[in-house]
Amino acid sequence: MTNDSWWSDAVVYQVYLRSFADGDGDGVGDLAGLRARLGHLVDLGVDALWLNPCYVSPQRDHGYDIADYFAIDPTYGTTDDLVDLVAEAHRLGLRVLLDLVPNHCSTEHPWFREALAAPVGSPQRGRFVIRDGRGPDGALPPNNWQSVFGGPAWTRLADGQWYLHSFDASQPDFNWRDASVRAYFEDVLRFWFGLGVDGFRIDVAHGLVVAEHLPDLPTDGAVDRHPMWDQPEVHEIYRTWRRIAQEYRPDPKYFIGELWVDGTERLRPYLAPDELHQAFCFDLLVQPWDADRLAGAVRSGLATADDLGAPAAWTLNNHDVHRVVSRYGQVQDLSAPDPQDLLAAARRTGPVDLAVGAARARAAVMLLLALPGSVYLYQGEELGLPEVLDLPDDVRQDPIWVRSGGRELGRDGCRVPLPWRADAPRLGFSDPTGAAPWLPTPDWFAGYAVDRQARDDGSFLALYRRLVRGRREVFAPGAPLRWVDHPDPDVLAFTRGAGLCLVNVGGDDLPLAPALEQAIVARSGAAGGLVRDSAVWIDTARVPGGLRSVAWDVPSGAGAPARA
Ligand code: BGC
Repeated sequence: MTNDSWWSDAVVYQVYLRSFADGDGDGVGDLAGLRARLGHLVDLGVDALWLNPCYVSPQRDHGYDIADYFAIDPTYGTTDDLVDLVAEAHRLGLRVLLDLVPNHCSTEHPWFREALAAPVGSPQRGRFVIRDGRGPDGALPPNNWQSVFGGPAWTRLADGQWYLHSFDASQPDFNWRDASVRAYFEDVLRFWFGLGVDGFRIDVAHGLVVAEHLPDLPTDGAVDRHPMWDQPEVHEIYRTWRRIAQEYRPDPKYFIGELWVDGTERLRPYLAPDELHQAFCFDLLVQPWDADRLAGAVRSGLATADDLGAPAAWTLNNHDVHRVVSRYGQVQDLSAPDPQDLLAAARRTGPVDLAVGAARARAAVMLLLALPGSVYLYQGEELGLPEVLDLPDDVRQDPIWVRSGGRELGRDGCRVPLPWRADAPRLGFSDPTGAAPWLPTPDWFAGYAVDRQARDDGSFLALYRRLVRGRREVFAPGAPLRWVDHPDPDVLAFTRGAGLCLVNVGGDDLPLAPALEQAIVARSGAAGGLVRDSAVWIDTARVPGGLRSVAWDVPSGAGAPARA
């Protein structure tokens, strides 16, 4: 498989391994389960898969707390199983991306254990951010930084020093100013690349380096650059990694960053030609179902992609946010999201109208798959799964739930095991004679099962299959997007090549000119016009007289987007 920019318009399917399919009956998804079900990805028509971390880990943050970066966790299989999976995926035409977690490891990583056993000031301690505290007896943390998961970002060691953890206390931050940390991760990259892995999603890619001297965060929040994030020294690391990726010929390796930085200028260095290939466009993910807000996010994502020369990577779902069906099924909050906590906008809870949310989610994925760039899908969204908001408290495992004392539901509800077979025990996720699934699958998930949807032409799954498999025929890869000036402000309308995408984000059913109606190649909602909360794809080559004959002002060839 060669084509060194395969990723630029790929559809990538995110596999949250522990919830995908259980091959050995222990109630936790694994590589054997995934391998047995790779056909599901082939049927969907995706180009690649991204596996959430599956290295050795005590699973305090389900694999984002790594104890051994060079081996697969036995719960998921063996390193040989991974090699076999990669080979099988390649045979089926699928690339494989792993998740790299360089900001922090697990407190059970041997280096952290060595650091605890080593004296203050030793090189072993130097691999982590370990400092004396403040106040009498150093009883106060070294500064006022807060963990992303809530509470202080520091935990005190038995000998009185403190270690930094941007996330859970089980996830000590590496000190990226230490040369041995840099060398270690270069080995990690080479190890997995050598086994055939095609690239990495980089966790918290704007993290890694923290500000020297660990300054307090100003309490009025007035800070140009947060001392925990986006420090200039991080770029040198990515330049080294890119050089390593380029060593693999003729098929260089690929990186996509989970980057929460504000605006194009902050993103610019990360996506320079000698750093990362892509960054997720989270701006679209955090928007409510509102035409101006969605169009604004698409416009700014495309402008950034054009400006930086890095194709956008669109996404509506992942393992950190509430599923889109549930988000769009709530009353839409149109206030501007808090820039300090954008994810909160994607983890709101309130009454959910599932029918409305489902209609909007179907329309939204038609929007995404019509855009230039690549699209990341999260397992289960092709089934239209809603967030499971009513998991019993005692089964919840997310550190966000634990650290917030139950105030925040966290992310367990989007990680519930997939339903494969409606009539099978445990919905086909795991062997009925083995252990119970690690999170209970609600009975109503049966209605979303893969086998049931595969038989129903009107299902989410059928729609996803049609869209993913057909999108390149409608929207030519590489063709630029041109906005079409539609008279209804609640309609997003654009062309790409011969394809026209119309999305009705408003509350009214709208008519569609007969010339368009007969040229529809895909639709997310009911037949007959452009009903509310729906989208259509139209092949303009099939519109008699062309789009110009339609009663809107369609921009000609090149030119400024009509939608301002
Ligand atoms: C991942 C999360 C994880 C966190 C800490 C992220 O942003 O996507 O799932 O909990 O990093 O590693």
